[in-house]
Amino acid sequence: METLEWTKHSDAMFKSWTDAQTNMWNEWLKAMQGFGTFPSSQVWNTTIGKFPSSQVWDKTIEAGKEKNMGTRTGNAVVEMLKQDHETVKKLFEEFNEAEGKAKAEIAKTVIQELEVHADLEERLIYPAIRDEVDADDMMNEAVEEHHLVHVLIAELKKLKPSDERFDAKFNVLGELVTHHIEEEEGEILPQAEDSKIDWEELTSRVMKRKEQLVAKHTSTSRKRR
Ligand SMILES: [Fe+2]
Repeated sequence: METLEWTKHSDAMFKSWTDAQTNMWNEWLKAMQGFGTFPSSQVWNTTIGKFPSSQVWDKTIEAGKEKNMGTRTGNAVVEMLKQDHETVKKLFEEFNEAEGKAKAEIAKTVIQELEVHADLEERLIYPAIRDEVDADDMMNEAVEEHHLVHVLIAELKKLKPSDERFDAKFNVLGELVTHHIEEEEGEILPQAEDSKIDWEELTSRVMKRKEQLVAKHTSTSRKRR
C-alpha cells in the first residue's frame, strides 16, 4: 500500500500550511480512511502538489462520510470490523432458511470469515487496543469468547453438515458470535476509537495481513475441490 510513502514528505508541507488548511487536511484524511484506503501517489501529486480548492475537499469529505455510514471517525479498521460483523450476522440468518448444499456453503463461508476476522483481532487489533486502553477484564473476556468460537469451529469441521448435531452447534456459534459482536461494538470499539491508537499504522498492517489470509484461504479451499 502507498500509505507511508506520502507521509514521508508531509512534514515540510504541513509547516507551510495555515491552521485552516491543516484542519481541512485532517478532515479529508479521516474521510479517506473511511474508504479503507489511502490516497494513491497520483492523488497525492495532483491534489497535494498544489493545495486543492475547497470544493474538492468538500466533495471528498462528503463521499467519505457517505461510505462511513455515519461513524464518528471514519476509521478504516473499525469500519472493516463492523462490515465483517454485518456479513456474518446475515449469513447466520440465511443459514436457517437454506437447505442442502447451499446451507453447507453458507456454513463454510461463515467459518472462513470468522477465522480471518479472529486472526486479525487476536494478532493485531486486540494487542493495539490493550496497549492504549486500560480494560484488561473486557479484553480478557473477548479473548475467552474467541477461544470458544475456535472450539466450536474445530468441532464443526469434524462434523458433516448433514450430521444432526451440525445445525445445533452452528446456531450456538451464531448466538455466541452475536453476543460477542454486541460487546465489541458497544464497549470495545468505542473505547478504542477514543484512544491514542495509531490508526494509520494499524490500518496498514491489518489490510496487509487480511490480504494474505484471504489469499491463503482461497488457495486452500481451491485445493480441497
Ligand atoms: Fe471479535
